[in-house]
Amino acid sequence: MSTTPVSSAFPKRKKTTTYTFQQKKKKHQPISMLTAYDYPTALAMDQAGVDSILVGDSLGMVVLGYENTLPVTMDDMLHHCKAVSRGAKSALLVGDMPFMSYQLSPQEALKNAGRFLQEAGMDAIKLEGGKERLDTIRLIVSAGIPVMGHLGLTPQSVHQFGGFRAQGKLASTAQQILEDAHLLQKAGCFSLVLESIPAKLAEYISSQLDIPTIGIGAGKGCDGQVLVTHDMLGLFDRFTPRFVKKYANLHNELGRAFGEYIKEVESREFPAQEHTVEMKEEEWDTFLESVKSDE
Ligand code: KIV
Repeated sequence: MSTTPVSSAFPKRKKTTTYTFQQKKKKHQPISMLTAYDYPTALAMDQAGVDSILVGDSLGMVVLGYENTLPVTMDDMLHHCKAVSRGAKSALLVGDMPFMSYQLSPQEALKNAGRFLQEAGMDAIKLEGGKERLDTIRLIVSAGIPVMGHLGLTPQSVHQFGGFRAQGKLASTAQQILEDAHLLQKAGCFSLVLESIPAKLAEYISSQLDIPTIGIGAGKGCDGQVLVTHDMLGLFDRFTPRFVKKYANLHNELGRAFGEYIKEVESREFPAQEHTVEMKEEEWDTFLESVKSDE
């Protein structure tokens, strides 16, 4: 087996920054973003060349098995952000602020936002909501922390929406999202996630803003795209949103590998010779003699 580290096969890349995001928007170069929650996944996508990694609070659903993102805590997020930042050295790392970590007061939000950068190696934070978040965003940005906004289907408001439903399908709600997008840009957000809104609306908003929009379920017209990695790898078995393209079916692949292992353990096919530690015959003979002489 080759012992060459996999990382040597990948050229070193320059670090993606918020400035890179701006430049990509200016040059009409699409921005790629994926979620990650652990070291090996972050390492693999960083080496593959993804522009940005979001440690999303989708963690709660796709890794921790909760029904929605509401139970996720700051401790959960920081733990997983630390693992991701050990694996990814080039992508812009965005930590997602969990439910109740930024809603109580701008000061509490700033304290929690700071922890993502100071303790967990993130480069920026993301939070959900529109005009009700402006004071919070201004305060966090004024402390030098880049903020990514999130409009449309904001999963922390799942109960208010009555389920995970597309947003902005009425002229009035589309107008509200457009207004919020302008307000978030003015408050200092460096970028904006648009989730589950009509493609036409996302394209229009993207054309009106100077900051890049990152779409999920929002069509081709955004400045970049993000997917939940466990959805695009087919690792999350409960449901797949309509807008997800599956690039692999790892749930089935895991089942196959686990099944094969169980079969080989039961048939004693595993471990084979090459998985076994050897001992010199003379050492073994000496061992047996010493055991016998102790009897
Ligand atoms: O938590 C998350 O993964 C997200 C993406 C869906 C944008 O917020």
